[in-house]
Amino acid sequence: MALIIDGKKISSEIKDELKVKVAELNDKGIQITLAVIQVGNDPASSVYVGNKKKACEYIGIKSLAYELSQDTTQEELVALVEKLNEDSSVNGILVQLPLPSHINEDTIIQTISPLKDVDGFHPQSVGALSIGQKGFVSCTPAGVIQLLKRSGISIQGKECVIIGRSNIVGKPMALLMLRENATVTICHSRTNNLKEIAKRADILIVAIGKPLFVTKDFVKEGAVVIDVGIHRNENNKLCGDVDYVDVLDHVSAITPVPGGVGPMTIAMLMSNCVESVLS
Ligand code: GUN
Repeated sequence: MALIIDGKKISSEIKDELKVKVAELNDKGIQITLAVIQVGNDPASSVYVGNKKKACEYIGIKSLAYELSQDTTQEELVALVEKLNEDSSVNGILVQLPLPSHINEDTIIQTISPLKDVDGFHPQSVGALSIGQKGFVSCTPAGVIQLLKRSGISIQGKECVIIGRSNIVGKPMALLMLRENATVTICHSRTNNLKEIAKRADILIVAIGKPLFVTKDFVKEGAVVIDVGIHRNENNKLCGDVDYVDVLDHVSAITPVPGGVGPMTIAMLMSNCVESVLS
């Protein structure tokens, strides 16, 4: 029987641990504040931002919500981020993505002070990760590491194949698995012999952004499969990048969608907010 990795339970445990830490910090007179900026009112972004605010409230982190109109200019957004960089009462700054097309996301990400970059998206944060220095780590891949460790799955020496090479998941995921002493291969949509390479994996991490892409012919018997994808199918039901039903008999452990990787992203964002006052 495969282990179904319960991301809801593990993320709750992490949030409860953080709540205790935040209470201890509060007792010492240290308050944590996260500024969350949303430009426009994309419904999916509004749900994510709402969930981030709720998590802050639960843990005892103060959240400052900036809900800006869709026609906010890049200059106005840069000015707000710069003001928050200077504000010593603000510990973390998060600009919800995607931004409207007239705003350059890279410019905004690079405007956030690396000391407040709780998303871990700033080039300095990514660079620090790649050379093993201190810095904020992108939340979703950091959450995957926690799922593995807290499920008792050892990483050291294992063959890890990552399908997906995005800046937010695939690339930092590879660096984190390398930091944990896995042997890492990154594949993507243009990889030749993708199935054969995926089949080498002891730990297969899928973040390709295509619903039900990975079927059992990508999976070695007994592999651990981590599904980072989230999609709605034609019946409005959530599904991942992995065909869960097809691979279930083949794996030793797997994350479901929903309830696997998804809840971990916010838990790790909260963890980064706590880190922001400790470092
Ligand atoms: N949009 C979707 N996921 C994320 C995230 O983790 N951080 C930010 N800033 N925007 C997102």
